[in-house]
Amino acid sequence: MKILLAFVGALALAVANPPPNQGKVICYYDSKSYVREFEGCIYPAQARMLPLDLDPALSFCTHLVYGYAGIQPDTYKMVSLNENLDVDRAHANYRAITNFKTKYPGLKVLLSVGGDADNEEAQKYNLLLESPQARTAFVNSGVLLAEQHGFDGVDLAWQFPRIKPKKIRSTFGSIWHGIKKTFGTTPVDEKEAEHREGFTALVREMKQALSLKPNMQLSVSVLPNVNASIYYDVPAIINLVDIVNLHAYDYFTPARNPKEADYAAPTYKPQNRNELSNVDAAISYWLTAGAPSNKIVVGIATFARTWKLDSDSEISGVPPIHTDGPGEAGPYTKTEGLLSYPEVCAKLINPNHQKGMRPHLRKVTDPSKRFGTYAFRLPDDNGDPGLWVSYEDPDTAGQKASYVKSKNLGGVSIVDLSMDDFRGLCTGDKYPILRAAKYRL
Ligand SMILES: *[C@@H]1O[C@H](CO)[C@@H](O)[C@H](O)[C@H]1NC(C)=O
Repeated sequence: MKILLAFVGALALAVANPPPNQGKVICYYDSKSYVREFEGCIYPAQARMLPLDLDPALSFCTHLVYGYAGIQPDTYKMVSLNENLDVDRAHANYRAITNFKTKYPGLKVLLSVGGDADNEEAQKYNLLLESPQARTAFVNSGVLLAEQHGFDGVDLAWQFPRIKPKKIRSTFGSIWHGIKKTFGTTPVDEKEAEHREGFTALVREMKQALSLKPNMQLSVSVLPNVNASIYYDVPAIINLVDIVNLHAYDYFTPARNPKEADYAAPTYKPQNRNELSNVDAAISYWLTAGAPSNKIVVGIATFARTWKLDSDSEISGVPPIHTDGPGEAGPYTKTEGLLSYPEVCAKLINPNHQKGMRPHLRKVTDPSKRFGTYAFRLPDDNGDPGLWVSYEDPDTAGQKASYVKSKNLGGVSIVDLSMDDFRGLCTGDKYPILRAAKYRL
């Protein structure tokens, strides 16, 4: 009888839990969202995100990735980029974050380094890879930093050089003039091979150091527009890492492509576009190189990329579309060319539309579910610039999760929680993008 009960119990457990390497929901929390509290005071309550605000998200997350630590340029040690916020007694974010494990015992909390948050002397990410001594300093300090504050491991969101942006329309006839060709002929990184080998060595050394501690994980996050086939030697590193987070978004951004807007994160290649600028291509590289599908996690951005339209923009709104630089900053995020999901939804749904307010954006969904959703407003006669927005919403996030499931991949990552609607301003539900992705996984 006892044996039978144990068997039934085991069966129930097996049904309740998906295979451990699938259905991962990796939640990123970028701590710079906290700093928003101090910038401007028009919407302080909405803009500010505290560790406490993470709580309603965490029952949906299998992992929480806290971003971002950095590298000290002279010593190559892995350090907090904001000690006041992360480690000092006043805030002690590191502890506040890892303490969530008491309430959510299955949650794994990783400390991520890089993530484009570490801007001082950007060359140090390359230089470190060239020096065994620098790597040792980094690995030892990183493991210590993670261990001291109760993290379950380290995520390397390495700041490699980026692929140069390319214009789409030059391939089938430009309709405007005076734009310089952006095709580069000089290589971005003259020591590609050395950096590839150095990164492999870094992963090996980091894994070795972490494996001396109990239950420490190692993941890598491949940042947008990093050419993975240059820097990631899949056969050499794949057995050393638990998770590969592909940040497969930002293929088009107003910073990279100010004069042309397009889908920022299409799942598949739209017609006449670059073969490699889509989620499916990013995954193919890893699978073809032999990575097991359940280690691959697809990043879903919660933020939108925005561009200004002008009188030269095609009135259909269909991308690729001529643009005039980044769209204006949003009230909470206060960054040109960027809007959080709640900032987008406020521009879409506007029942109390008042006179004098800007007309809202027209949303264009994609019935094929292959490219994503965009929204736009043409410029008007009063000199008000138009706006074109590429973004994820709960529907498209759910579609990406379904794609992930259909390919038997490891799961999704949400990048990041602070740009999802963590207050439930859009429809009343908190974290709608995270939830939609989780439910379709
Ligand atoms: C990435 O690098 C590979 C190998 O060097 C090259 O063939 C490919 O075109 C590059 N991809 C992009 C998008 O530049």
